[in-house]
Amino acid sequence: MRKPRIAILGATGVVGREITKITDELGIEFESIKFLSSARSAGSKITFKGKEYTVEEAKPEVFDNVDIVMASAGGSTSKLFAPEIVKRGGLIIDNSSAFRMEKDVPLVIAGVNDEDLRKHKGIIANPNCSTSQLMLVLEPLKKFGIKRLIVSTYQAVSGAGLAAINELRDDTIANLEGKPFENKCFKKPISFNVIPQIDVFCENGYTKEEMKVVNETRKILHLDDTTKISCTAARVPVFNGHSEAVDIEFEKNVTPDEVREILKNAYGVKVIDNPENYEYPTTRDASGVDPVFAGRIRKNLAFDNGISLWCVADNLRIGAALNTVRICKRVIEMGLF
Ligand SMILES: NC(=O)c1ccc[n+]([C@@H]2O[C@H](COP(=O)([O-])OP(=O)(O)OC[C@H]3O[C@@H](n4cnc5c(N)ncnc54)[C@H](OP(=O)(O)O)[C@@H]3O)[C@@H](O)[C@H]2O)c1
Repeated sequence: MRKPRIAILGATGVVGREITKITDELGIEFESIKFLSSARSAGSKITFKGKEYTVEEAKPEVFDNVDIVMASAGGSTSKLFAPEIVKRGGLIIDNSSAFRMEKDVPLVIAGVNDEDLRKHKGIIANPNCSTSQLMLVLEPLKKFGIKRLIVSTYQAVSGAGLAAINELRDDTIANLEGKPFENKCFKKPISFNVIPQIDVFCENGYTKEEMKVVNETRKILHLDDTTKISCTAARVPVFNGHSEAVDIEFEKNVTPDEVREILKNAYGVKVIDNPENYEYPTTRDASGVDPVFAGRIRKNLAFDNGISLWCVADNLRIGAALNTVRICKRVIEMGLF
């Protein structure tokens, strides 16, 4: 197995830092590695596996002799550099939404639809964070036939980047001290608040974030239009870890016990479900670790053959960095670069 020459684009950002850490944790072997940012952070230092690297400014020529780029530098940056990377024979695993719904771009959750990786033409997309955690829970249940899916998300500020994390901290302190605070990242104050808007509104009244969950779920699980999906996404004053209330109507009858058993054995999922002892997953359980946690598994009272559950995960890991590095690992193992 040939070792790839790797670049991490957006290495100085929230997701990029996690990608760097997880590249080490998953033991990705490489021939060379470089860390890239905008001009703003170029020249800063990153220590990786005990060695100090200087962050380089991303320009087309830095992608010469690079096999795999793990990118988390925003959609416009990915759009700018993806053609340059592909032109040079490289492969980009992209965290932005720039290419996710393009026909020739596999949208992959490692362990869910790895075979789709074989169809790549130089670009592989990483799903949106709220879609990602949901896929690991839904894939093993797909065999019961998903007829209808309703998802409500409670999303942490880390999903909006470093500036948003700082805004929650600074706004909270200002609020507690009775000082004025001007919110910049969010349309409303985020401290002590819940904001029912993530990303911009679409013509149909849903936000783009909500439509990402709808469209990406269909693409990853290969579901057609007969499966009805709806999502409401809210931003909550939590630093890290997205929570989701999930209601599923199945074609076939399935009991909560069966679902619990299936999810206990599912790849990447951990069940915490013992409400009598107040055991259910919360964002604090999920932050900093790999599994997607599922709990509160119960019969849904509104649907025939319905199940409701609560699903929590570290959005920076499974929702972005962990999945990116897992894809990188699969690409290497499958010889796809
Ligand atoms: N946060 C999440 O949970 C999450 C989940 C899924 C996907 N994503 C996606 O991942 C991307 C990054 O998110 P983030 O939260 O890590 O943001 P962030 O903390 O703001 O970091 C952005 C990174 O991109 C770099 N960058 C910005 N413009 C660039 C340019 N023109 N050329 C090269 N590098 C550039 C920045 O470099 P400087 O340090 O030089 O500014 C920084 O390293 C976004 O596309 C986001 O939608 C985020």
